[in-house]
Amino acid sequence: MQPKGPIGIFDSGYGGLTILKAIAKQLPDYDYLYLGDNARAPYGNRSYETVYQYTLQAVEWFFRNGCSLVILACNTASAKALRSIQQQNLPANDNKRVLGVIRPTAEIVGNFSHTGHIGVLGTTGTVKSDSYKIEIHKFFPEATVYQQACPMWVPIIENGEQESTGADYFVKEYIDNLLLQSADIDTILLGCTHYPLLMPKIRSYLQNNITIVDQGDIIAKSLEDYLKRHPEMESLCSKNGTKTFFTTDNTDTFNKRGEVFYGNKIESEKAIL
Ligand code: DGL
Repeated sequence: MQPKGPIGIFDSGYGGLTILKAIAKQLPDYDYLYLGDNARAPYGNRSYETVYQYTLQAVEWFFRNGCSLVILACNTASAKALRSIQQQNLPANDNKRVLGVIRPTAEIVGNFSHTGHIGVLGTTGTVKSDSYKIEIHKFFPEATVYQQACPMWVPIIENGEQESTGADYFVKEYIDNLLLQSADIDTILLGCTHYPLLMPKIRSYLQNNITIVDQGDIIAKSLEDYLKRHPEMESLCSKNGTKTFFTTDNTDTFNKRGEVFYGNKIESEKAIL
């Protein structure tokens, strides 16, 4: 019999902590194991092959550490590595599952829009993959999706500069570029788990009639629903309400910066992938 273990939550760095925060609020009883691959972040501009290799190493690390269910709380990894991992790397007769954040978000995001014109902000990797365009059209065939890559946002956020005046320049630039694509955009999806940290600045460059959608609550509800629909996986998730944090880089830095994303104190340990 497969032993119970924590639910794994993965991101290239700190962004997945915004997802863990929402998940732990919605589903506080489960145990969670977080891994940030800070030593190799950001993933946003990296090739398909590299993101796939890095993400696969992380997934194998979660499995070695007792997880049966792993959430890629990173849009870039979900866009570039999830399908390959699901198709090529999961043992056929083992109860091991890896889920992403793009499909559950795409299923919902169209509900926020009245005009059917939806803007997606993401890393270069996520935008180039067209994953959001493809997935949103499956659920909302009438919707028009506009995308804008924001390659400077993750480095700004990872360096703790999200409140600086320097950040304003790049927030305005990417928002302007997105809105130039259509005057009818009424919903903007933050398609990167780091971006909620820029929310006040993003909001300040948008009119009030534009809804900004961040993924935390969507992913939390979708996980709750998944666990209800898959009792065979739910029974493999331990429930002691613990959260354990690992980073591939310096733990002191992770504790300090991670707190801003997670909203609570963090004591991380070093992971060797
Ligand atoms: N937080 C990740 C995402 O949701 C990406 C950050 C990165 O570029 O590594 O896409």
